[in-house]
Amino acid sequence: MRKTIENIKAQKRLEKLVVLTAYSAPIAKLLDPHVDILLVGDSLGMVIYGMDSTLGVTLDMMIAHGKAVVKGSEKALVVVDMPYGTYENSPQQALQNAKKIIEETGAQAVKLEGALTDIISHLVGNNIPVMAHIGLQPQSVEKYGGYKIQGKTEESAKQILADAIAVEKAGAFAVVIEGVKREVAETVTATLKIPTIGIGASVACDGQVLVIYDLIGLYQDIRPKFVRQYAQLHQTVGDAIESYIQDVQSGNFPSEKESF
Ligand code: KIV
Repeated sequence: MRKTIENIKAQKRLEKLVVLTAYSAPIAKLLDPHVDILLVGDSLGMVIYGMDSTLGVTLDMMIAHGKAVVKGSEKALVVVDMPYGTYENSPQQALQNAKKIIEETGAQAVKLEGALTDIISHLVGNNIPVMAHIGLQPQSVEKYGGYKIQGKTEESAKQILADAIAVEKAGAFAVVIEGVKREVAETVTATLKIPTIGIGASVACDGQVLVIYDLIGLYQDIRPKFVRQYAQLHQTVGDAIESYIQDVQSGNFPSEKESF
């Protein structure tokens, strides 16, 4: 049976929430027995489609990958990101697109960036569970002038706490806090009743999320400070390809057993 929103909320302060991104059915199937939430993040624009930011991600992309992740999982709660330009304009626009995501993917919730309380409360009021996302918001990267740690000044720390309180009040069932100083995450986590899920936001949060390809070390060149690589898949894949090349070139592949 799948985890419910109530299960996730009840986990706060009892057991850390384990969240990972997934974008495909095979990866969802691998992660599903182990995680609480599978997040179909719009980070897919960068890690799957090679974009420079998440700003070019479309609703169709999120729906296609959301469907695959729901198909590949049975236990974890599946949350799908609402991409840039599909929810910020009005509560009506957000509801229409959030409904499309939920109906076409079968996911349990959507995630959106910013303390957009009118939009969050409109979705929640129409039975669409919302995970909020505050602190560093990748869809606003052009506004910040890069991926910059938030909450460094007293004023900005206060704003993040105010945003956290506002999204909880609007009805979000959990909140991702990205790229903030530990003290900010500590205050927010202690203040809110809903779980906080950190990325680059210290161990103070109620749970952690990472992009799966960062965790398994799929690329050699990209390694943000907050990422811990638990495997070096770029190395494993490189070695496998090297062996394949040797076998093809030497005529060692395919063998008799691998032929009809
Ligand atoms: O898009 C994404 O994958 C995310 C997480 C990294 C929080 O928003």
